Amino acid sequence: MRGVFVAGTDTGVGKTIVAAAVCAALAARGEKVAAFKPAVTGLDEDPPEGWARDHELLASVASAGQSADQVAPPQYGPPVSPHYAAELAGEQIEPNELLAKARAAAEHADALVCEGVGGLMVPLTPGYLIRDLALDLELPLVIAARPGLGTINHTLLTLEAARTAGLDVRGVVITPWLEDDLAESNRGAIELIGDIAVSRLPPVTPDELAEGGAQLPLDDWLHEDEAAA
Ligand SMILES: Nc1ncnc2c1ncn2[C@@H]1O[C@H](COP(=O)(O)OP(=O)(O)OP(=O)(O)O)[C@@H](O)[C@H]1O
Ligand SMILES: [Mg+2]
Repeated sequence: MRGVFVAGTDTGVGKTIVAAAVCAALAARGEKVAAFKPAVTGLDEDPPEGWARDHELLASVASAGQSADQVAPPQYGPPVSPHYAAELAGEQIEPNELLAKARAAAEHADALVCEGVGGLMVPLTPGYLIRDLALDLELPLVIAARPGLGTINHTLLTLEAARTAGLDVRGVVITPWLEDDLAESNRGAIELIGDIAVSRLPPVTPDELAEGGAQLPLDDWLHEDEAAA
């Protein structure tokens, strides 16, 4: 499956914006791109100001004709981990169903862009983490990370957890990128210590997603590498 899995160092770090920018940029260059998110939670709360909810934003920029409900099949109200949101709804997320839906979304597309939920080690069920889904989908990983204080630690921990599991990590994206000394120092430290390419996504509005995404190294992330993973 050609595509990329956009994981994050935490919840609220910019995964949706990075994933939507990738979708919009691929669509703008004529690719048929499908988006997938294994679960949305927090529908009881307002979406971030100026932005649609994750599955709605992703559906609006992907170009494979998916509805928002197809982008994120399980949807829950409480702003909690998906395994707990499912428990509160009296159900359990079925990993095999998610995998089948993700593969079905990718089947007629040129690429699949999958956004994680929270950070890499967030449980979809008590025994099945976001990391397991990324492995089962056999997608390379990109990590969305904050620019400021704390990001070196969170990003290196995420990189280590990803690599330990055998994931093929293609890059880190600092978002939103604002030119300052701390962000620049953090970027250099992550690149050096993590031995990983670190990209920068500047602040964008919903109308600027394609433009922002076009500045990211999409071909480095999306190339199919038989030897990897
Ligand atoms: N490049 C950017 N341009 C503009 N805003 C940004 C950018 N990156 C991050 N943000 C800000 O960070 C917020 C959180 O981003 P986003 O919703 O993508 O995070 P997330 O990791 O997908 O969160 P969740 O865990 O809820 O899925 C956005 O609402 C926005 O305010
Ligand atoms: Mg999101």
